[in-house]
Amino acid sequence: MTEQRETLKVMPGNSLVGEVGSQGRLSLPGDKSISHRAALFAALAEGQSEIDNFLVSGVTSAMLNALTKIGVEWEIVGELLRIDGKGIYNSTREASKSRESLQINCGNSATTLRLLAGGLAAMGIPAILDGTAGLRRRPMDRIVKPLQQMGVGIEATDGCAPLHLERSTMPLQPIDYMPRTASAQVKSCILLAALAAYGKTTIREPGPSRDHTERMLRSMGFVVISRTDLLPDCRDGNRSVEYISEVKAKPPVSLYPLKMKIPGDFSAAAFVIVAGLICPGSKVTIRGVGLNPTRTGLLDALERMGANLRIDNVLEQSDEPIGDIHVQSSNLRGIEVNGPIVVRMIDEFPIFSVAASYAEGRTIVSEARELRYKESDRISSLCRELKIIGATVSENPDGFIIDGREKLAGGRVEPHGDHRLAMALTVAGLNAQRPVSVVDPDIISESFPEFYKIMEGLGANLQTEYKGSTNEA
Ligand code: S3P
Repeated sequence: MTEQRETLKVMPGNSLVGEVGSQGRLSLPGDKSISHRAALFAALAEGQSEIDNFLVSGVTSAMLNALTKIGVEWEIVGELLRIDGKGIYNSTREASKSRESLQINCGNSATTLRLLAGGLAAMGIPAILDGTAGLRRRPMDRIVKPLQQMGVGIEATDGCAPLHLERSTMPLQPIDYMPRTASAQVKSCILLAALAAYGKTTIREPGPSRDHTERMLRSMGFVVISRTDLLPDCRDGNRSVEYISEVKAKPPVSLYPLKMKIPGDFSAAAFVIVAGLICPGSKVTIRGVGLNPTRTGLLDALERMGANLRIDNVLEQSDEPIGDIHVQSSNLRGIEVNGPIVVRMIDEFPIFSVAASYAEGRTIVSEARELRYKESDRISSLCRELKIIGATVSENPDGFIIDGREKLAGGRVEPHGDHRLAMALTVAGLNAQRPVSVVDPDIISESFPEFYKIMEGLGANLQTEYKGSTNEA
């Protein structure tokens, strides 16, 4: 019997016109990274936090369910999340005293697992942290090693989840740590554990990873210093600049609760931006988008490609910059992407590769090996699926090369269990010669449940159907 699989059929040819607001029917979801942090940090705070525009999605449910497991109470009314924080040392730790290790299922969410490991280490709560087969593929040594150096009893399983975290003896040890790769999840995990370490903890990264943790902890009354240092002698390979985050803790640390509104997710807006650029005749405005410079590398790359983008109404909201982005369809040209911009657009390579596929000339992405450790191996899965729909693309160990063309052909593609790949391939279909059919598109709701509604509201023609896995698109 042929297996019936849900398929999203993208009918090409429409222009996208309209506005994605910061409130109302077509509104951009709250930022995924900030939502994760707000929920966890609010649980560590003392008192009730109110977090508006919280992203309710697959991956953030994993975080909220984990908080329930450790005894934290929360409720969601619309998009307002209320959390009763118990403090790092108070009842949460008390509640865990009588229990064995808690079994915590982090689903597909590496952010939940990595940040939670740091938070639980600070709270002294023993746990087994696990998740889906997809999550078990992701490297965890990168958090296990620094946590062990801090005195946390934690072991991975062949470098991956499940992680076994013991009840730590307090206080933890401060460290001076130099991760090989810039990663906000690793940095955040260490900073959270550092809340329970007596003295100065320093993290020296080779690139400017997103700084939402530092901003949020500051707003909760905990001082985090961020600075860059030029290195006269290159200590590690060709590293010449260090991006440093530093805290000095004197446990017990207490955090103020959060009263905040989460900015629109730039990584969600990215799909709308590129869709507007590649579909002729498009004109789209997206309001209330998070514009933290550690996240907006894609805008810089697209501007170099000749994209017609304009930003206005920039202001600060809950310690993060936000603004409106105006997009008009544009003739893009290929560029080279490497160096510090890679980490500033790390989640945007799937959609960037679609922009490159519709650009004139060659795009070369290098120094981006980290893409292999995301929800899928984003170098091989992207190259494979783009090839199927007619792109000229070749894979390198640390990136890919794309020779752009006016139109992709169309065809049937697999998202490899990767929400961003599914959305990027959907956008790729909007200007193809024939439809693109994306199999198992459900995965999109992991991070952007409103994706279809927003794209259709702007004029995209998307049809959901069930097809046998052997059928043509
Ligand atoms: C995230 C950091 C990035 C990013 C992920 C979310 C975060 O991961 O890819 O989607 O919220 O800190 P790495 O820290 O592994 O680069």
